[in-house]
Amino acid sequence: MCGIVGYVGSKKATPILIDGLLSLEYRGYDSAGIATIENDVIKVMKDKGRVNNLNNLEGINDLVGTIGIAHTRWATHGKPSKENSHPHMDNSGKFAVVHNGIIENYSDLREFLTSKGYTFISQTDTEVIPNLIHYYYTNGPVSVIEDTKEKFLGAVKSAIYDLKGSYAIEVISTILPDEIIVVRKDSPLVIGKGNGENYIASDIPAILKYTKEFYLLDDNEFAVIEKDSIRFFDNSLQEHNRAIKNIDWDANAAGKDGFEDYMLKEIFEQPTAIRETIGSRFRLGEKCSFDDIEISKEYLQSINKIFIVACGTAMHAGLVGKALIENLCKIPTEVDIASEFRYRNPLIDEHTLCIYISQSGETADTIAALKLAKAHGAKTLAISNVIGSSITREADYSIYTHAGPEIAVASTKAYTSQVVLISILAIYFAEVLGSSSETVLEELKSDLIDLPSKVEKILDDTEVIKAFAKKVYAEKDMFFLGRGTDYNVALEGSLKLKEISYIHSEAYAAGELKHGPIALIENGVTVIGIITNPNLLEKSISNLQEVITRGAKTLIITNQILPNGHFDYVINIPETNPLISPILSVIPMQLLAYYISKQKGLDVDKPRNLAKSVTVE
Ligand code: G6P
Repeated sequence: MCGIVGYVGSKKATPILIDGLLSLEYRGYDSAGIATIENDVIKVMKDKGRVNNLNNLEGINDLVGTIGIAHTRWATHGKPSKENSHPHMDNSGKFAVVHNGIIENYSDLREFLTSKGYTFISQTDTEVIPNLIHYYYTNGPVSVIEDTKEKFLGAVKSAIYDLKGSYAIEVISTILPDEIIVVRKDSPLVIGKGNGENYIASDIPAILKYTKEFYLLDDNEFAVIEKDSIRFFDNSLQEHNRAIKNIDWDANAAGKDGFEDYMLKEIFEQPTAIRETIGSRFRLGEKCSFDDIEISKEYLQSINKIFIVACGTAMHAGLVGKALIENLCKIPTEVDIASEFRYRNPLIDEHTLCIYISQSGETADTIAALKLAKAHGAKTLAISNVIGSSITREADYSIYTHAGPEIAVASTKAYTSQVVLISILAIYFAEVLGSSSETVLEELKSDLIDLPSKVEKILDDTEVIKAFAKKVYAEKDMFFLGRGTDYNVALEGSLKLKEISYIHSEAYAAGELKHGPIALIENGVTVIGIITNPNLLEKSISNLQEVITRGAKTLIITNQILPNGHFDYVINIPETNPLISPILSVIPMQLLAYYISKQKGLDVDKPRNLAKSVTVE
């Protein structure tokens, strides 16, 4: 949601900025723009629409500035338009700003600036920022400072001090045309160190091809970036040093690698992502261990409740996590949506452990929900795919999935890796607590180890799914039914379908069907059933029989032996422990959503209105 790129060096900035924006396209956006400085004049080029449209703007190829900032906007305040696109400038044309986040008190600031004679071109919250900087540069408390460098940074700091909300901000100015000032709070921003050039981006993959050395800014930390230096300041502008982080991701991992779409590539990367996530965390016959955390038996025994909090797909992974933790560790576990959790006064104290799952580690509601738990004295544990992301920096403990960069908006390999990691965590807790028999835990470990080859087996034959997608792609409604973890994964299958095929769908606990949704079942409606738990086999078949009787067309994803001739389509998947079967049963549903979307000619990787990383509430 909104993407930021910056460059300062000796090369022409525009192509680097546009390239960076293209890498951030997956975050979701509706407008794009860049600003560079040439001969002490800021040149802004922006418009609504795709990043590639920037290349068609008159004069874009003539920009020779070697410093610049760039932005993809996901509209919040003001509709997508050229005026509302970033960068925004102040009235004097001395400052240009791009911003990701939301300024909650922007109307008050706008009113204040208007009373001082400033005018506004856009409806955005962002436009107050360059004008506030100008205000402080000329009139504010820093006006007494003689040194221009200090004065510019001081003006930015004073402006930031007035902002309420979340932000990652880049500022350039004609006053000091060789530097970019950045600051962040609750919105992502990384700085990549080059040789005689430096880069800024919302996330690491966007600039991974230029550098593997990164600085990760803290909340309320400022950086002043020139081509040969990067300086860091705290929020009282005291300079300090910051350690560099080497990121060992493969730059190609962020490319499409011959696949038509990122989503398809990421679906096929799941065997590797699962293997990497298991890594060396356990071997058969040995106890699980996490390099990153050590949690004592005394602490776990003091816990009387676990909350798993997340959004979207990550929340669906959390539902499977609940089943695992309750079964193996016997600790009552609740799963909540972060945007609900943070405002519902949840009962949290020092005997509660709160686990947060977030692929990006930057989801605004998840971060806020984590801060809330900390404020109530609970310990927090983050599960993320991005090293150094905001939630991992806030949490008491952090563990990582090793899925590699996930670019497609619809999450696939992050989900399966999250379920794998939370399975290992549950086994680890159970081993520390002694709450499950060794045999049960060893069998589950063995099932986890077998998962990658089982996923490969499912991916080897996608023909039935493709054929089914061709049959149903024009439908308006679909239903997903399951019981237990089959219901949990049904929710994820239904979400995938909505996200990328724009078909309305509902996931229901199969036993709940009769309490309402069965009224919607009529001749020809598609129902997808998931059956992987032998203990629930008969009950699940009965529920599906009820929809068949009412004319539904059925596709069943199963690892059980079903009665012959009962269902229209059956996809057989390998057997595994029902607690982790979502890792296998989700794959046909990911592929189904993918092939339906392709059949409809939609943009699979960048579905309308959606953002990969939801950095605002
Ligand atoms: C957005 C994405 C989803 C993702 C959710 C949570 O809605 O489109 O794919 O599941 O955010 O993201 P997170 O990064 O916190 O896992």
